[in-house]
Amino acid sequence: MADLSIEVNGIKFPNPFVLASGPPGTNAKVIKRSFELGWGGIVCKTISLDHSKVHNTVPRYGKLTEPGNKKKVLGFQNIELISDRPFELWLDELAECKQAYPERVLIASVMEECSKDRWVEIVERTQATGVDALELNLSCPHGLPERNMGAAMGQNPEVVEQVVGWAKGAAKIPVWAKMTPNVTDPTLSAMAAVRGGADGLAAINTILCVIGVNLETLRPMPTVEGYTVPGGYSGRAVLPIALRHVMEIARSCEGTPISGMGGVDNAEDAVQLMLLGASTIQVCTAAMLQGYEMISGLCDGLETFMEKHEFNSVSEIVGKSLPYFSTHADLVERQLAAKREKAGQAHRDDMWKGDIAKETDSLVTD
Ligand SMILES: Cc1cc2nc3c(=O)[nH]c(=O)nc-3n(C[C@H](O)[C@H](O)[C@H](O)COP(=O)(O)O)c2cc1C
Repeated sequence: MADLSIEVNGIKFPNPFVLASGPPGTNAKVIKRSFELGWGGIVCKTISLDHSKVHNTVPRYGKLTEPGNKKKVLGFQNIELISDRPFELWLDELAECKQAYPERVLIASVMEECSKDRWVEIVERTQATGVDALELNLSCPHGLPERNMGAAMGQNPEVVEQVVGWAKGAAKIPVWAKMTPNVTDPTLSAMAAVRGGADGLAAINTILCVIGVNLETLRPMPTVEGYTVPGGYSGRAVLPIALRHVMEIARSCEGTPISGMGGVDNAEDAVQLMLLGASTIQVCTAAMLQGYEMISGLCDGLETFMEKHEFNSVSEIVGKSLPYFSTHADLVERQLAAKREKAGQAHRDDMWKGDIAKETDSLVTD
């Protein structure tokens, strides 16, 4: 069995696969189950100081399926908010999980309003539970931005730097900033988070979308009392966008570890995010659709890939394909050079053939 462990910010992950913040980490029971099944770590559902402000709707999910095959989910939308469970209950459960599984990595996802006092309070009280790291949710794209939280913060590099700075001022454990893909240039907020002192970056959160319109009722979905709001897109369909964001962040924030996510369905998807700069891989939607048991396939697939390419450690994979991004003009130049080289080679081959023919001729005539 290959060694699948990786160390990030001094934390040893038994394998790089981490359940992302969302339904898979919604309470202590499911967090413990994920550890039992072998996940390297888990980020709990995002928590805040005052759960009474969080009100979820039913329905809150929508799916884009393959035409003619409703079972094949291509993309997934949610308008779910952060956790609506009391903060004090969460503190007890985080401490309980960490005590029961000290070797497994537990990361607390936290979110607050744009107030230094609130961020300091949530960081201090959450880290006291013994969690290994904090992930600052600066990226939830729906519901919370109406309260100037989530993506409303993450889309503003100045606010990102300030909030990360507040959290870092109070934190004694590593702090990751979770970035939003709902921006034109993902590097600006990522670099701001690093300036604020972030120990790591997590990307991507969900992409704003409208999953569809019901052709019977003519109402957009998911429909709540006839109405809806754009929500967050995730699952298989978003992998190419996640690959681009992780690549751009890795190139602009060299040296800062990235926890990559978005559309990871299997080990091959995960490895691609690693090759473009992710040290750990988070999974949310696929775990909801396939079940927590998918972790065995992820580990087996990673091991097979490492054996095939003779990687001795997971960290050797990280960023391996990054040097092969360039500018379009450079691609054109390389292609021209290759064509010239090929033409030159063809010319040299012709000459060679000519020389052989001459020699054969001379042999025959002699
Ligand atoms: C139903 C649902 C709820 C989510 N809730 C949270 C959350 O509370 N905090 C957070 O940071 N991200 C949340 N996410 C985003 C995921 O953590 C992840 O960034 C995103 O879904 C992309 O990964 P995936 O394609 O593997 O799902 C949620 C995603 C889904 C589908």
